[in-house]
Amino acid sequence: MSFSRDKTEIDEGDTVILYLSASNMHAFRVQPTIKNKHGELVENVFQTTYGALKVASLVGVKFGSKVQMSRGWAFVLQPNPELWTLTLPHRTQIIYTADISLIVFHLELRPGSFVVESGTGSGSLTHALARRVGPHGTVRTFDFHDQRAQIATEEFAQHGLSNVVQVACRDVSCDGFGEDVQGRADAVFLDLPHPWLVVHHTVAAFKSDGGRFASFSPCIEQRSQTVASDSSDKLELVCTNYQNTMPGHTGYLTFATLPPVWARNISSSACPSDPDGDDGGSAPVIETAGL
Ligand SMILES: C[S@@+](CC[C@H](N)C(=O)[O-])C[C@H]1O[C@@H](n2cnc3c(N)ncnc32)[C@H](O)[C@@H]1O
Repeated sequence: MSFSRDKTEIDEGDTVILYLSASNMHAFRVQPTIKNKHGELVENVFQTTYGALKVASLVGVKFGSKVQMSRGWAFVLQPNPELWTLTLPHRTQIIYTADISLIVFHLELRPGSFVVESGTGSGSLTHALARRVGPHGTVRTFDFHDQRAQIATEEFAQHGLSNVVQVACRDVSCDGFGEDVQGRADAVFLDLPHPWLVVHHTVAAFKSDGGRFASFSPCIEQRSQTVASDSSDKLELVCTNYQNTMPGHTGYLTFATLPPVWARNISSSACPSDPDGDDGGSAPVIETAGL
């Protein structure tokens, strides 16, 4: 229960961040005993470059305290999405904080929003989405990899996020997001190898008021296919021209908006890339930030 609310003291079962330095941090659960490789319950001793820490000794300690290990000391911190992104167990490539901040901003998320995400991957972005829309909003996150979906579900429960985040194991390219999501989303985010196969499912997921769309792709070809997909002409430009936020390339972030139902025909006929309004093979109005 350490992500969902501010806490003073560490309880058994909490996830904590052991901070040795900015480049040497570890996340683990406070469990006094663990199973060894023979399946026997043994004392949980966490090994670091500054020596060993008896995990049971953290129970009752205040978050932010300095804790002694056998060959040095560290700070024990309450986790947040930024620290989790730096320490989580990687099951996939993940999205990092600089990109996450841009995504959360452009999706115009707020407390109470309904946001759809695929794939869940390692849950890096999902934690930031949950903090932004919780405690009364919803994150519906989809991954077709059974084990990843299962582990992510367990992690969100351990982190006290089950009331906000719901994980489903589903191939969204083939099956979309499901009827119970249709017409409910304020925002949709895709981090998938074939996002162009999901754009028409995305359009169906939005509320009649429309909403915000973003897609992360490492390669420019993926971005090109996404903006050329059949339903992409319903999506319109959000923005362009902002600063690069990181040294080096992480991926292309494509942002778009879906107007409210009543405005969709008006805006497509007034589309600047299609001045004749004849739908004659014009480029969809989506723009991309290459980070
Ligand atoms: C790069 S990872 C997402 C990482 C995530 N954004 C994060 O920050 O941790 C991509 C995920 O998409 C999932 N995936 C790929 N194709 C999919 C599909 N058609 N339907 C659902 N999930 C899919 C993969 O199993 C993988 O876990």
